Amino acid sequence: MDGPARNEVRVRMAAAGVCHSDLHVVDGEWERPTGVVLGHEGAAWVESLGEGVTGLEVGDLVVLAWTAPCTTCPACERGEPWLCATPDGAGHRLSRELQRLHRATGEPIGAYSGIGTFGEHQVVARSAAIKVDPRTPPEIAALIGCAVTTGIGAVRNTAQVQAGESVTVIGLGGVGLSAVMGAAAAGGHPITAIDTSPAKLELAVQAGAHRTLLATEAAQAAGADHVLECIGLVETVELAIDLLRPGGTVTLVGMTPQGHRASFDVYRLVEDGKRIVGSNYGSAVPARDFPRIAIDFLEGRLPLDLLVTERIRLEDLDSAFAAMRRGDGARRVIVY
Ligand SMILES: NC(=O)c1ccc[n+]([C@@H]2O[C@H](COP(=O)([O-])OP(=O)(O)OC[C@H]3O[C@@H](n4cnc5c(N)ncnc54)[C@H](O)[C@@H]3O)[C@@H](O)[C@H]2O)c1
Ligand SMILES: [Zn+2]
Ligand SMILES: [Zn+2]
Repeated sequence: MDGPARNEVRVRMAAAGVCHSDLHVVDGEWERPTGVVLGHEGAAWVESLGEGVTGLEVGDLVVLAWTAPCTTCPACERGEPWLCATPDGAGHRLSRELQRLHRATGEPIGAYSGIGTFGEHQVVARSAAIKVDPRTPPEIAALIGCAVTTGIGAVRNTAQVQAGESVTVIGLGGVGLSAVMGAAAAGGHPITAIDTSPAKLELAVQAGAHRTLLATEAAQAAGADHVLECIGLVETVELAIDLLRPGGTVTLVGMTPQGHRASFDVYRLVEDGKRIVGSNYGSAVPARDFPRIAIDFLEGRLPLDLLVTERIRLEDLDSAFAAMRRGDGARRVIVY
């Protein structure tokens, strides 16, 4: 491992969650350059600072952002850093030009989204390392790096759910359960949670759902102000549009294998004035939203600990992916 070079930080990983966006790559559903250290949901301690780094000290607890905005492209200038065209870490390298990891033979190895959290150490862009309250448990901090910010941000920032609006969440993995918590914190009512797994429905009640339905019963949820799809299946994307009330908003969070297309009845959608919105990284600004979410957890407003199904070791990664394929468990978190 080289570095850290200018505006980079070397970190020691504290914890890393296993997200379905890693599994999409493992299963060949998303094309990514190899070899690459996967993992994009992590928290770490700062080990050393490259030249020019300000605002961080050795020993700080940081949540790693999988989009580290460049701050100067048109999207960043519009205040939409989740759409940054040239983030640090683009192309699954540790910095825009260079890879910091090499095999023993010298051949470079990438890092997923520039942070590759399935490894004990990394060198990341300064802009990817967001300091949070050091009282945040590392496994909770790790989940803030993806599932939590994605789910809560989809509710708060993308859909902008208001108190008293009804919210239906389809798919209750780490992302969907976070969306349920975000909806509860926003005062959504009633909140309906849908999954194929009865165990997930129980977790959703703890997360704040007022009503739960097995996927086979989903039609009972028709008429919601907001529907959030948190799986990434064409059939549930189409279901989400059908479950919406006229004038309501569907927020698509789950991501399908690349190239999948969904369809809808154009006449009905137009006549019913429905809206379909995509939500990338919860439309979040990491430097603003990560520390706030950590405080919401520490002050008891978000029960994020119920997302941690099991603490595992790096060696257990393959069994964690196997469990995720079965829909078993909310999040498995590697504790280093
Ligand atoms: N938009 C973003 O920025 C963003 C960020 C992170 C993850 N994601 C995507 O969000 C999706 C969810 O991620 P995750 O880590 O929570 O996944 P996960 O595998 O942990 O959860 C998926 C859930 O869907 C349920 N499910 C599967 N098929 C179903 C069906 N037909 N009907 C109802 N429920 C069903 C499973 O039981 C499981 O609870 C993935 O596609 C992931 O790539 C998107
Ligand atoms: Zn993720
Ligand atoms: Zn940018």
